Amino acid sequence: MDNRPQWGTRAGFIMAAVGSAVGLGNIWRFPAVAYENGGGAFFLPYLFAILTAGIPLLVLEFTLGHKYRGSAPLTFARLNKKTEWLGWWQVAISFVISTYYAVIIAWAMSFAYFSFGEKWGKDPGAFLFGDYLKLVEAPGQVGSIVPSVFIPLVLVWVIALGVLFKGVKKGIEAANKIFIPALVILFLVIVVRAVTLDGAAQGLDAFFKPNWSLIAEPKVWVAAYGQIFFSLSIGFAIMVTYSSYLPKKTDLTNNAFITAFANSGFELLAGIGVFAALGFMAQQQGVGVSEVVTGGVGLAFVVFPQIISEFPAFNGLLGSIFFICLVLAGLTSLISIIETYVAGIQDKFKVSRNKAVAIGGGISAVISILFATQGGLYFLDAADYFINQFGIVVAGFAEVVIVAWVLREMKVLQQHADSMSDMLLGAWWKICLGVITPFVLGYMMIQNFINNLK
Ligand code: PHE
Repeated sequence: MDNRPQWGTRAGFIMAAVGSAVGLGNIWRFPAVAYENGGGAFFLPYLFAILTAGIPLLVLEFTLGHKYRGSAPLTFARLNKKTEWLGWWQVAISFVISTYYAVIIAWAMSFAYFSFGEKWGKDPGAFLFGDYLKLVEAPGQVGSIVPSVFIPLVLVWVIALGVLFKGVKKGIEAANKIFIPALVILFLVIVVRAVTLDGAAQGLDAFFKPNWSLIAEPKVWVAAYGQIFFSLSIGFAIMVTYSSYLPKKTDLTNNAFITAFANSGFELLAGIGVFAALGFMAQQQGVGVSEVVTGGVGLAFVVFPQIISEFPAFNGLLGSIFFICLVLAGLTSLISIIETYVAGIQDKFKVSRNKAVAIGGGISAVISILFATQGGLYFLDAADYFINQFGIVVAGFAEVVIVAWVLREMKVLQQHADSMSDMLLGAWWKICLGVITPFVLGYMMIQNFINNLK
């Protein structure tokens, strides 16, 4: 008997998968990565990475989860008793990410509120690190808990765990069906406003202008693959877990294409919105666009507040909408990350969902408090660096090598996916996963190790 929970509808599953994929990485990572790696010319390696690694891996993870119907550890254990560790490795990565991802969402919540009245004043950088995060001078010190971070953090955990307590269909699916359409609509408001600002054209020009001289550089291709892996939430146990809740018959291949293109569509939209706004800011300051481009924390919590302060009219509201978008994009990703260990605990220890959420979610919530202290940002950077350099790439590499070469499972998986789809996985699928992806990931792994030895 199979009493695994199931998604209510196919659209519900796709919404949840897209919800996981669309996250902070789409809004603050992609625009900067694309710009630094050739602007318009970056789209070539990016598209190549989607077709040769993103979609093939998504199909692989959907097929694994669907065929073996388990959380990542159970799926890999059913694939072969000796590979259960790979599932736990991926779950562990997700666990660590969830502890700090939650904190960034908490900041975005605060900033949605600060936006009214532009509480960050004239110097958003000083406000973020000093007044808000109360960051200690040197890394390593914990300091005390910062209440203004801690309070929204509690709210983030209440929402995320509240959704997860309600289950797959009534919780995760229902939340994504509200959050994702809301995110798209609100983000469109931001983009429409941004592209009609003075200077937007220069911003877009800087973003799309192709710099073909970079195209032959390996680092540009590595950046494209890195962005795709992170952005599609591949190698984190997430897509395996989510697809284990699919009904017996479903078109896995098609689901993967839809998820990947929806994610990239949003990424492109974010690039347009962010660069239009940066163009506006550059014009206000009388400098070139290249001087105001950043990504990550600096973009979202320093540059955007500056832009918001200079927005003509409705500034408070529009700024707030931007941060609400970050919150929505982040929450749907956070929920998917937590679900990997909720499912893992349930499958392994045969406990109820509620217990798994309470224990797994509870422990990560407690750990996340470390990042809400005065030393929090340093710990966050360290955790993020470690995960990006070693966690993700190694997990993805192990996954493809084990499936394609050690266990030689490609054929069986291909038959499984093909039996339910009109889009047959031809030889390209096997070549991408058996040759191209391991090669690129192996290269990235070696590069990371070399760079860290330096
Ligand atoms: N895919 C998400 C993004 O683009 C990030 C993410 C990473 C989500 C890891 C879940 C797990 O931001």
